[in-house]
Amino acid sequence: MMSANEREQSTRAELLLAIETSCDDTCAAVLDGARILSNVISSQAAAHEGFGGVVPEVAARHHLELATPVIDAALGEAGVTLDDIEAVAVTAGPGLIGALLVGVSTAKAIAAARRLPLIPVDHLQGHVAANFLEPEPLAPPFLCLVASGGHTLLAAVREHGGYELLGQTLDDAAGEAFDKSARLLGLGYPGGPALEKEAEGGDPEAFEMPVAMARDPGLDFSFSGLKTALVYRCRELGPEQTAARRADLAASFQAAVVAQLTAKLRRALRRNPWEAVALGGGVAANGPLREAVGRLCEEHGVRLKLVPIALCTDNAAMIGSAARYATPIAYPDYLGYDAFASGERQADGPISGDIGPKSAHRPLV
Ligand code: KG4
Ligand code: ZN
Repeated sequence: MMSANEREQSTRAELLLAIETSCDDTCAAVLDGARILSNVISSQAAAHEGFGGVVPEVAARHHLELATPVIDAALGEAGVTLDDIEAVAVTAGPGLIGALLVGVSTAKAIAAARRLPLIPVDHLQGHVAANFLEPEPLAPPFLCLVASGGHTLLAAVREHGGYELLGQTLDDAAGEAFDKSARLLGLGYPGGPALEKEAEGGDPEAFEMPVAMARDPGLDFSFSGLKTALVYRCRELGPEQTAARRADLAASFQAAVVAQLTAKLRRALRRNPWEAVALGGGVAANGPLREAVGRLCEEHGVRLKLVPIALCTDNAAMIGSAARYATPIAYPDYLGYDAFASGERQADGPISGDIGPKSAHRPLV
């Protein structure tokens, strides 16, 4: 715990408590400016595994049980108490509405009891803002590929507080394709890490998989055809051969996802000179993707910023990072503040760190 004297002596910009409950991870973090003092993540994966995907009601109930212990753990690890906290940041959307509401209500209650400001944060801005954290924070401008379970997009990040959307998936998100394909192959949930592990022993050229949007001149993505191609390959093979060739199927599928993501990054780099490229979202934890993007950046002489895997998948430190550039709401103006599950993107202008309507989060299994 810090004494008032220590607080005064420290160079801290602001001690933030951040909370993230948009999907199936209950997360809390304490940030001192761009420095992470704690980043606690309690995964509910085991609770959803039997269902093959996230069940919204189960997620919300788990967040209710876990929010307090996770926040206590984050404060404890950071060596602070709620009395030290100067603002509370929380993911307001997009995501599962029941899950989000647990985080937003918890954050409002903590903030209101101490008359602290509340900082609602957009989840996708959080994935981008993971790159602003210490050590070696990346400053804009940079090109950011965000690939998660609910979204896949290319962002032109020219300022800390927002980004311009250059392209996005027209159907499934990359992580969703990983999850559904892993399920098809009888692998565990969440599918991304399970499929990556299975693919280690496979031949990425064993099966031809479509690399969608290759001839499309834009920067949008599409993954639903790839998932369908895998369904057909499995049908052709039959259950026994599918099981026998599982590693090859996983490797071929993964190679096609990586090829599409890197093809669009390459196109964006050819269109405009960027000094740096960054990755965000759960799929950014994927080893072959990180390697392929590394090679691409080397080819183009562009700096690549890779955050640790714990900051790629959902976490609260990234929400705290985005909050540093978002607009705080003073007490009591946020008491009626609501979470948002999804919405249409604003027609023009950069997405700001302030909350606005955004595209839908991951469709549920
Ligand atoms: O960002 P995230 O934790 O949550 C959302 O905002 O959706 O991303 C979760 C997604 C899941 O679809 C998961 O399967 C995928 O990221 N993922 C991966 C890997 N680790 C997580 N996909 C591929 N390879 C991985 N190693
Ligand atoms: Zn996410």
